[in-house]
Order: sequence, then C-alpha cells, then structure tokens
Amino acid sequence: MPLSQTHAIAILGTGSHVPERIVTNDDLAKLVNTSDEWIHTRTGIRERRLAGPGETTTSLALGAARAALADAQLEASAIDLLIVATCTPDLPMPATACLVQTALGLPATTACFDLNAACTGFVYALDTAWALLASGRYRHALIIGAEKMSSAIDWSDRTTCVLFGDGAGAAVLGPAPSGSGIVATKLGAIPGTSDLLLIPGGGSSPLAPGAPRHIQMKGKEVFKFAVRAMDEVCRDLLTPLGLAPQDVALVVPHQANLRIIHAIAEYLELPHDRFFANVDRYGNTSAASIPLALDEARRAGRLKRGDLILLVAFGAGLTCGGALVRW
Ligand code: ACO
Repeated sequence: MPLSQTHAIAILGTGSHVPERIVTNDDLAKLVNTSDEWIHTRTGIRERRLAGPGETTTSLALGAARAALADAQLEASAIDLLIVATCTPDLPMPATACLVQTALGLPATTACFDLNAACTGFVYALDTAWALLASGRYRHALIIGAEKMSSAIDWSDRTTCVLFGDGAGAAVLGPAPSGSGIVATKLGAIPGTSDLLLIPGGGSSPLAPGAPRHIQMKGKEVFKFAVRAMDEVCRDLLTPLGLAPQDVALVVPHQANLRIIHAIAEYLELPHDRFFANVDRYGNTSAASIPLALDEARRAGRLKRGDLILLVAFGAGLTCGGALVRW
C-alpha cells in the first residue's frame, strides 16, 4: 500500500556484478541429459554465469555495491542502512551484510542485516529500506540482492541445474529528487506452500537429518503460482492509484523463465517489449535477478526520468511482491 511518508525516497543509483565464467546450455548438456533446444524452448535461458574459485556471495555483492555507489555518486560512508537479500549467504552467521560492511569500510553506526525472501528478496529489501528511510530514522540505504545459487544446486539433477546462475545487483536509496520516488509496494507470502520450492537440508531442523542441501522444486506448480501471483501484485499496485498496466513504461520482473514473463505480459495486455528480460544470459539469479535487470535496463537507457517502473517478483515461501517507482 502507499506509505504515508514524511520523506520521499528514490533509487539514486544502481550497480551489478556477475562472475566472468559463462556456462552455456551446451556445456550443461555434457553434464546431464539435456539440450540447448530443451532449455531454451522451456525457459528462454541460453547461458548463465557461475562463480569461479574464490568468488562468494559477499564478493559478488561487493562488486554490485561499489558500482551502485559510483552511479549514485555517493561515498560509502554516507550509507547508514545496509540490507543484503540472499538465500545463499556465505555463512549461517554472521550476516553477509556485515561482511560487505567490513569490506566497504562502513562505520559501526551502520545498521546491517540479511533478509531471506528467496527470489522476492530484493523487493522485500526495497520495501523495508523505503519504510526505514521514509520514517527519517536513516538517510541512505544500500540494498543488495546477491546469490551464489551454484552452491545450492544438485549438478546431477537436470530439472533444476539448468535454471540458475550466480550474480549480484544493488541499489542506493535516499532523499528523492523532486518528481521521482518510490510510489507503492506490496508484499505477500502464501501459507502452506513451502514444499513447492525449498532446500530441505542444511538448517537446524531435527525433522530432516541428512536431508539434501540443494534446491528441490515442483516446477509446474511454481509456474502457475508465479503467473497468477505476479499478475495480482501488479494489479494491486496499480488499481488503487487509478493506474492501468498501460501507464507503466517498463516492467522489470523476476527473471526465472521467459515463458512466465510472456504469460504475465498477456494477462496485463502489454507488449513483450514492455518487459525487461535478460534471463537468456544469466538464468535465474534469485534475489539478484531484479537489481541485475534494473541496472542493465538503466545502462541500456530504458529508464527515463519521470517514467513509471514496475518491479515484480515471486520466490520460495512462496513469496511474492512488487514495487512501483517513479524514475
Ligand atoms: N532437459 C531435458 N528434459 C528435461 C529437463 C532438462 N533440463 N528437465 C526436465 N526434463 C524433462 C522431464 O523429465 C519431463 O520428462 P517426462 O515427460 O519424460 O517425465 C519433461 O522434460 C517435461 O518436464 P516438465 O517438468 O513437465 O517441463 P515443464 O514444461 O513444466 O518445464 C520448468 C519445466 C522449465 C522447470 C517449468 O516448469 C518452469 O519453469 N517452472 C517454474 C520454475 C521456476 O520459475 N522456478 C522458480 C525457481 S526459484 C525462484 O524463482 C524462486
């Protein structure tokens, strides 16, 4: 819902960082029984980036953070709130945000925490940072979506290993230049759906000793949820403000599957080119996917001052969420 705010808050800069190593569908076909044709037809993915030796969620986050700070023309020391959205943290504790804080040299007065809403994580972080900045408690936030999904994949499971990639994207939020700013956000989570998309092992639950520590997914159910939930989120953001999908200049959706993106376009009766898509080159980078796409859209000149931009995501939980931003 629109926040009755004391301070208008905008995205002041974006950045992204991906591993150099490119792994194509043909490369994966040497690992499991699959093909470029199957993967591309079903998902739109051609290749993904996978972390090399020494690359971590933190190092990817750091690259994206530095790029976002440079784009915002802001010193790191101006950041007083740092949120990392991730479901593949380097460690169970401390938070990845604390590791990024140290590497960036941020002062001890910086609030730092991780947030896990899986692929919806960046939208959850945006909503959280917006509320904290709008209240006047903090002035500049750095929010990062960073994932090393390759660490959570069973590389012998063709139904999941072809879908994911590693990467990071970031945004700096702060006082809005006049006329711009975050307009509305909406978050949700559907009770009783955790078994559709999960990593069963690696946590503290005594219920699943020795359970696998990799992603398991009921793809068809997730597909249906994704289309329905993202369509609903978009309408719930626009309708109360008297806006129609056609008023949105660009939708930056979670990059899980090009067929999901095209299905939402059809539901909203928007042309495909109104949706930014880079899933062909990165696969699904979970919480990194929206900020990575947003940064590419900005660098490609697709975000014009005064445009209405709609971010929309779904993820494990199952969670969903969206944000409407006046650029
Ligand atoms: N290569 C070749 N064949 C494959 C592969 C593969 N990589 N993976 C599965 N298959 C086979 C299956 O075994 C099945 O064979 P069968 O008919 O002999 O049993 C056949 O292809 C069809 O499999 P389906 O699962 O029915 O394929 P579907 O058309 O549903 O596509 C997909 C699968 C791409 C996973 C789709 O369901 C999807 O995109 N779902 C949503 C997934 C998603 O977005 N997840 C989000 C991930 S995490 C997140 O974003 C929070």
